[in-house]
Amino acid sequence: MAIQRTFSIIKPDATKRNITGKVNAKIEEAGLRIVAQKRLQLTEEQAGGFYAVHKERPFYGDLVKFMMSGPVVVQVLEGENAIAEYRKVMGATNPADADAGTIRAEFAESIDANTVHGSDAPETAAEEIKFFFSDDEIVG
Ligand code: PPS
Repeated sequence: MAIQRTFSIIKPDATKRNITGKVNAKIEEAGLRIVAQKRLQLTEEQAGGFYAVHKERPFYGDLVKFMMSGPVVVQVLEGENAIAEYRKVMGATNPADADAGTIRAEFAESIDANTVHGSDAPETAAEEIKFFFSDDEIVG
């Protein structure tokens, strides 16, 4: 498997608890490299646009509100099979279902305050990276 890039968000529940370093340690221990990273306060347009795929779902409004409830850290991660590897390290969306040792099992508070987001496929990774980063901000 070739070297791949994926997009990650460290969510407001984690920035509020000052545990972004702990999340990054898990990412690096998994063999992924953080090749771009910035801390942002999302606007309604950014949060709503990013999660537009969930627009029709009942939790969309709360999800957008939550993602604006504090700063986030957006990242590009690089490594072998990075998309699947990061999803493995994140654990299941609902922390109650997440395997021991994963980021969500250790840190997530609930299905929305679940500490991290990671892309689910190469096409979405490319789109999500482009949503937040220009090429010259990514240094591999
Ligand atoms: S699902 O249910 O399998 O489609 O969920 P998923 O596509 O993995 O992620 C949905 C994102 O919405 C956030 N969220 C919720 N999901 C399900 N149910 C509820 N009630 C809910 N509230 C918020 C969830 O954290 C996922 O966020 P991301 O950032 O994509 O991981």
